[in-house]
Amino acid sequence: MESRRITAHGDGLTAPVIEFYPQVKSVHEAMIMASGALFALRGVAALAGFGWPLSWPARLLSYVIDTTLLAAAVLLLVLLPWSTFANGWLSMKLGLLVVYVVLGYLALRSGRSVGVRWVLFALALLAYGWMYTIARLHHPLGALHEFINP
Ligand code: HEM
Repeated sequence: MESRRITAHGDGLTAPVIEFYPQVKSVHEAMIMASGALFALRGVAALAGFGWPLSWPARLLSYVIDTTLLAAAVLLLVLLPWSTFANGWLSMKLGLLVVYVVLGYLALRSGRSVGVRWVLFALALLAYGWMYTIARLHHPLGALHEFINP
């Protein structure tokens, strides 16, 4: 599957760069796992009353992981033919990314009741999981499409 995409895009301009597609995708996927795991850990700790999730080392680590994730994502966007995203799965993923970031931000910051923050945190994790299945299936509804359109 991957090699088909690579040769389909293998013109003189992009051929030397497209060779790195598997590595770039691996970096993107590894950073997604790291980003999700760190967010889950910080969320549980912040809601349990610990202060470290908002400390600068935790925030810095999060920025480094997310910046690497996004840099790899942009490279993938440049490397792949636009037809890869024709059914709108990437647009849906990007829309959910905004939802995830906002929910995650609100869940980690105090100012609301702990109960509300747990709900925001759970919704952020759901958005993350949905984005993951959207990406894996290359379908705008992700895992939901099995139920809506079996
Ligand atoms: C600005 C944000 C993002 C952009 C522009 C982006 C873009 C991309 C692109 C272009 C691919 C390559 C698809 C392919 O190889 O056919 C990809 C793969 C992937 N992305 Fe993202 N992504 C972003 C964020 C995320 C996030 C937040 C998640 C998870 C929650 C995620 C999960 C994945 C996964 C699992 C794959 C591999 C899909 C496969 O198996 O083909 N991405 N992403």
